[in-house]
Amino acid sequence: MTVDLPDLAAMDAFGARIAAALQAGDVVALSGDLGTGKTTLARAIIGALGHTGEVPSPTYTIIETYDDVSPPLVHADFYRLEDPAEVNELGLEDYRAGAALIAEWPDHAGGFAHEPACLAITLKKVGDGREAVVTAGETWQGRWR
Ligand SMILES: Nc1ncnc2c1ncn2[C@@H]1O[C@H](COP(=O)(O)OP(=O)(O)O)[C@@H](O)[C@H]1O
Ligand SMILES: [Mg+2]
Repeated sequence: MTVDLPDLAAMDAFGARIAAALQAGDVVALSGDLGTGKTTLARAIIGALGHTGEVPSPTYTIIETYDDVSPPLVHADFYRLEDPAEVNELGLEDYRAGAALIAEWPDHAGGFAHEPACLAITLKKVGDGREAVVTAGETWQGRWR
């Protein structure tokens, strides 16, 4: 499925749509080149879940957690990982327990598309806006239209 995201308002609406369906155990995997809007979409989702504070890009920290929203959320940016095995050292599985994960650069962590609760989104630039190609995992089928 392809979603047109011509501007930031469309990004906010798309984020709200994802947030409304989001459950603990889910992964929202955000792929796409630098500057295609992965962090922007993550912020839209986290904001729609009700978080009112800042949402720093996890570029350097790799993992940011949000326990003030439901489901609790982990926002990760795996760009800086040199080997997917490093996700184990980060303790990602512990962070993920009882939480949903938004993952930028999922391929650098070995990928999540094999998980049935993965919503895989690839963003690309189209003119001044963006386009998202969405692949919904098995457990997203009933709640994603
Ligand atoms: N749908 C959109 N339309 C136009 N500009 C966008 C859209 N989504 C994001 N942007 C802009 O693209 C730039 C890069 O976004 P960012 O989320 O930091 O990208 P990434 O995390 O993929 O590197 C920001 O200036 C942001 O405002
Ligand atoms: Mg980013």
